[in-house]
Amino acid sequence: MEKEIKTIGVLTSGGDAPGMNAAIRAVVRKAIANGVSVKGIKKGYQGLLNEEIVDMEKRDVSDIIQRGGTILGTARCMEFKTEEGQQKGAEICRKHGIDGIVVIGGDGSYRGAQALSKHGINTIGIPGTIDLDIACTDYTIGFDTAINTAMDAIDKVRDTSSSHERCSIIEVMGRNAGYIALWCGVANGAEDILLPEKYNFNEQDIINNIINNRKRGKTHHIIINAEGIGHSTSMARRIEAATGIETRATILGYMQRGGNPTCKDRFYASLMGAYAADIICQGKTNRVVAQKNGDITDYDIDEALSMTKSIPEYQYQVSRELSK
Ligand code: ADP
Ligand code: F6P
Repeated sequence: MEKEIKTIGVLTSGGDAPGMNAAIRAVVRKAIANGVSVKGIKKGYQGLLNEEIVDMEKRDVSDIIQRGGTILGTARCMEFKTEEGQQKGAEICRKHGIDGIVVIGGDGSYRGAQALSKHGINTIGIPGTIDLDIACTDYTIGFDTAINTAMDAIDKVRDTSSSHERCSIIEVMGRNAGYIALWCGVANGAEDILLPEKYNFNEQDIINNIINNRKRGKTHHIIINAEGIGHSTSMARRIEAATGIETRATILGYMQRGGNPTCKDRFYASLMGAYAADIICQGKTNRVVAQKNGDITDYDIDEALSMTKSIPEYQYQVSRELSK
């Protein structure tokens, strides 16, 4: 029989992502509408272990839907990767009357949720990461804002790059995944797009491309490099030495994780948060919310963590053909 849910907790974990606040707001308001009390757990699993737990009412999530970051704070917590840490987390939940937790974060955060579920605390995950690297879902909260922020920044670098007839290597985030690089590479009309999933580490191809483009009269050469490949600064030095063309590296960094969420991030975060609240209130556990083919659905966390995802081949082919 499914456990009766009277009180749930909500936490954000791992790297923050724009739209997490919209998800928190939706979880709180939908759970309360379902007759369930909500407690906010600050700073991810670290805050759970430190018992940083506060009651949340509908009004506590007013005026946050438009804000970047997460009002609950987030953290990476090594202790929670241990059996003792997970056991302690479950005991703290029982002490505070928390029957289940909605965890907003990435794959790592789901592993924590999976462990809590095994210890008798119901858990539901919501995909919150700018990296889009969660296999079970077509959409992760924060990706849309991050690519738009990066796209605007890359446009600006391109202006100055053209004026100086330079080559620019612009490094975008994504951990080991190339989705931000792929989307920005296409949207910014980059001449080269380097994805960890595809890159063959043959710098001579890039050098030849730069020289040929310059011969054809192109005044700039934009290379979007994914964080998973990295080393943009040393790559710039080598390319400049080989081509004789001034080459600069720009690492966009944490600006990609900040800022007001786009409409799309607010909308899907609201839907996913509401959906998570509904299924946790029904007594479901060890599930993760996903968006598949336009619909909001949910998967078993064990199944979700065993899925793999790759760069769509057609998108990759188009990105290569349009950059030539
Ligand atoms: P993300 O959730 O964005 O993938 P991390 O991989 O850093 O980010 O994971 C966030 C947090 O989730 C970790 O700091 C840790 O507290 C928890 N976590 C990660 N992996 C595990 C695991 N194998 N078991 C339990 N908790 C984990
Ligand atoms: O997962 C989001 C992300 O910003 C990645 O793109 C990046 O690799 C990582 O987090 C950086 O993490 P940290 O905040 O620990 O430096």
